[in-house]
Amino acid sequence: MLSREDNERLTRVGPGTPMGELMRRYWVPAAYANTVEQPGGAPVRVRLMCENLVLFRDGSGRLGLIDERCPHRTASLYFGRNEKDGLRCVYHGLKFDANGHCIDLPCLPQANNAERTNIQRELAVKAYPVIERGGVVWAYMGPLEHKPEFPDLEWTRIPPAHRFATRHIQECNWLQGLEGGFDATHLTFLHGGDAEPSRRLVATMYEVIATDFGFVVGTGRDPGAGKDIMWNLNVMLMPFHKIISSIPAAAHVWAPIDDENTMLYSVDFIADRPLTEQDLKRSTEWRGIHTENAPGSDHAIRTKHNDYLIDRSLQASGASMTGMKGLGTQDCAIQESMGPIADRTREYLLATDTAIVKIRRLLLQALDNHAAGKLLPGMQPSSYRVRSTRFEAPKGAKVADTMVERVRAAAR
Ligand SMILES: [Fe+2]
Repeated sequence: MLSREDNERLTRVGPGTPMGELMRRYWVPAAYANTVEQPGGAPVRVRLMCENLVLFRDGSGRLGLIDERCPHRTASLYFGRNEKDGLRCVYHGLKFDANGHCIDLPCLPQANNAERTNIQRELAVKAYPVIERGGVVWAYMGPLEHKPEFPDLEWTRIPPAHRFATRHIQECNWLQGLEGGFDATHLTFLHGGDAEPSRRLVATMYEVIATDFGFVVGTGRDPGAGKDIMWNLNVMLMPFHKIISSIPAAAHVWAPIDDENTMLYSVDFIADRPLTEQDLKRSTEWRGIHTENAPGSDHAIRTKHNDYLIDRSLQASGASMTGMKGLGTQDCAIQESMGPIADRTREYLLATDTAIVKIRRLLLQALDNHAAGKLLPGMQPSSYRVRSTRFEAPKGAKVADTMVERVRAAAR
């Protein structure tokens, strides 16, 4: 159970909120780069942490991420005409470059040069730095003096043919997604029908360790009969990345659209070689972490508005716990069912929720540290050179002490 105040502190992400300000100290994904490939092509709407923005690549190839509102009469720049050197508001012709500067004010021919310069300076719009990495356009929305270098996130450093990436909108708060990602017990139940047999064993051991990149969550399953404990180490990279220790590996990024909506980026990848047809089969048949979306849309076909196309007879048959197709849809369904922002004051947590409790504590600690001006985890790009991994160890072995070492050693 969490206090109402702490639940608010952890979940709200708008400007000025504790978590919103913490997240703004990191690079956050704005869009897949292929949606703004063409110089002078159509702008893309981006809503990130409660801010409405427009992403565009001007005619000369420069990327800009600026406030969606034209500061003149607040019309949307999404409808703007994308020109060689900027985006022109179609209402009265004001033009803004990728830095947010107003570079043309054609609706005011009577102004002299000094007046024009002055007004244009006042008409500048908010613009955020962007960078392209791993087929994604990332934004930095925090104070410029704190802008970190882009982290060495493994899946962003490999050739495009080594990964398969999708994204979809979850109609709930980002933390429900992140907590779900580190909830080892649900694998056995929610995904029971689809899961590999080795995962049907409930994890009974939990270790969560704070690191210089975020934290590492270890969950141990005891197969019994005196066999070694099966440990699974999952890394959480600040502020909202998870890497799954499967083959192909899988990355999740829970980027908040606002307090009640999340853009979940899902990436299957193999660092050392291109994905094969075999690797891709599970993903593209929508049985894995990806959801099948309506063509050209970030909305899944199976949503809360159609009860995720639940098949009750499949559920009754025992072949699937949920009767819903694919891990991604199952996660989305159950996380959304907790409400737009889960009321954590109403929970009754069990011993199997130990990892969740520790994760919340670490996130609250990060908020305190940020407020106190202390150094945040993940500011060193090389700290992200880690990999989630699995191993076996004798019962009683002191695994916690070796977890950080192990996820570092597993990285390339
Ligand atoms: Fe799941």
